[in-house]
Amino acid sequence: MALDENTKTAGDGPKKGVWKSGKGKGRRHTKGRQLEDQAWDEVRALLDGKNRDRDLLIEHMHLIQDEYGHLSAAHIRALAEEMRLSMAEIYEVATFYAHFDVVKEGETPPPALTIRVCDSLSCELAGAQQLKAALEDGLDPAEVRVLRAPCMGRCDTAPVLELGHNHIDNATPEKVQAAIDAQDTHAHLPDYETYQAYAATGGYETFKDLRANGNWEEVQEKVLASGLRGLGGAGFPSGKKWGFVRANAGTRYLAVNGDEGEPGTFKDRWYLERTPHLFLEGMLIAAWAVEAEKAFIYMRDEYPAVLEILRREIAALEAAGIVEPGYIDLRRGAGAYICGEESAMIESIEGKRGMPRHRPPFVAQVGIFGKPTLVHNVETLHWVARICREGPEVLSSTEKNGRKGLRSYSVSGRVANPGMYLLPAGSTITDIIEACGGMASGHSFKAYQPGGPSSGLLPASMNDIPLDFDTLQPHGSFIGSAAVVVLSDHDSAKAAALNMLRFFEDESCGQCTPCRVGCEKAVKLMQKDSWDQGLLEELSTAMVDASICGLGQAAPNPIRLVMKHFPDEI
Ligand SMILES: Cc1cc2nc3c(=O)[nH]c(=O)nc-3n(C[C@H](O)[C@H](O)[C@H](O)COP(=O)(O)O)c2cc1C
Ligand code: SF4
Ligand code: FES
Repeated sequence: MALDENTKTAGDGPKKGVWKSGKGKGRRHTKGRQLEDQAWDEVRALLDGKNRDRDLLIEHMHLIQDEYGHLSAAHIRALAEEMRLSMAEIYEVATFYAHFDVVKEGETPPPALTIRVCDSLSCELAGAQQLKAALEDGLDPAEVRVLRAPCMGRCDTAPVLELGHNHIDNATPEKVQAAIDAQDTHAHLPDYETYQAYAATGGYETFKDLRANGNWEEVQEKVLASGLRGLGGAGFPSGKKWGFVRANAGTRYLAVNGDEGEPGTFKDRWYLERTPHLFLEGMLIAAWAVEAEKAFIYMRDEYPAVLEILRREIAALEAAGIVEPGYIDLRRGAGAYICGEESAMIESIEGKRGMPRHRPPFVAQVGIFGKPTLVHNVETLHWVARICREGPEVLSSTEKNGRKGLRSYSVSGRVANPGMYLLPAGSTITDIIEACGGMASGHSFKAYQPGGPSSGLLPASMNDIPLDFDTLQPHGSFIGSAAVVVLSDHDSAKAAALNMLRFFEDESCGQCTPCRVGCEKAVKLMQKDSWDQGLLEELSTAMVDASICGLGQAAPNPIRLVMKHFPDEI
């Protein structure tokens, strides 16, 4: 009788390659972590009716995190099964983002309630550390955990924290306790202009006209004539990008950058919580101009109210027949500043870790799913709609200090009335402080951050520079997202720079050594009473020269500017 390779031979034991060594000794299941029926059922219930495409991984992890408060090993295993991914792939993505809590077997899940206390610069100036300590002392860690978190885009009402998804402005332990008692842990929606209200005043007529018989090049000319430049921070002339994207044949996409993570910046939220449809119409016009097959909106998870507004208003656009269902794809970030860098955002939209890509190729050529992608900041698109509706003069007719246009300054810190101020682009810090009603009582002006921590700190003596694109570079700074933080004689420039570097240390994606190790090393050196300036300068040079993206390249700005302008503090 012929014997099969994998069956026993008569009388002489198991044959080589047969894995069962004897009766009862074989494995009852395959190697590796097993699928648990209950966890699988739970994940399938959450994913019911949803597709399992790879790019939806982060969206699906949010569903589990929202429902169960963490991602257990059993749920990750079940998600891996459903999405046909390896557990390792899911694990590496989940652990990249601050808003996912991965809980392995045998570990204790986090308590039901999480408080995230912002400790970025404006909140730290307003007492975030003391607030966090008071909360840690006063609350039961088995019930509530208190975490530090980066800027939540509400710096004008610092200190700020997030209780569940409820943001508490000008936070105190008493306000927190009251919210816990009232189980007030959900986002509060502000009053905003709905689709009906926007459409009633001519909203979407421009877009409909353009779609029916518009010429994209004419629109591009208008946008160029207005002088609009990218308001995400890089300042690239907005219309020009459209031509670059259109130069590539085949499927194209548009991606909106709503990550707004640069500490001190809250202008995008300000517009979205008031007039979301100006942005949405601008987005549809830009998408039409590059013939985008789909428009993705990447919105930071720190803005739950905005996410809800967009869900509702996108549904209203679909119901009104302005867009096909699914044309606008809203994606939720998960707590990673680096995903504001456009190529990292695209990685994240694809469901991966938000690691910036090497360039070239640029995202206008190779973007989402390898297709040419037009990326715009939220506010840029807000202005695209206004330029198309009101003409390029809406920006170009304002002139001040030799600069043209308007700038949305997010102002916080030691001013009397922090807030979002739309001012001429040629405004100086003196004009901005004046617009804010002057300095806060008892404070005199000492220094300012002109455009996020990436722009560093300038002294009060440099109070006559127009805060616009190109005007700050000669001073070792730049306007970025126009996130202005004002410091007073009560504040230390050295401590502010340390706060900024801590932020970069936390948020570095870690893929390149000069940035990952450089930020960590800089923080260590900056914590000392006296700075080793030679070493810090050497480190700064290495970071600027050898980092892949703007985070690592700009992180030394606060160090260098404090060494230059505040030498007596270090
Ligand atoms: C570290 C880093 C973070 C960034 N964060 C944001 C952001 O939060 N929002 C944004 O719109 N652009 C951000 N940008 C700029 C984007 O890469 C990109 O230039 C922008 O979204 C393009 O849109 P715009 O031309 O309309 O400004 C960031 C860039 C870097 C290097
Ligand atoms: S510079 Fe920093 S954030 Fe940017 S890619 Fe390198 S490690 Fe990541
Ligand atoms: S919300 Fe705290 S610094 Fe922006």
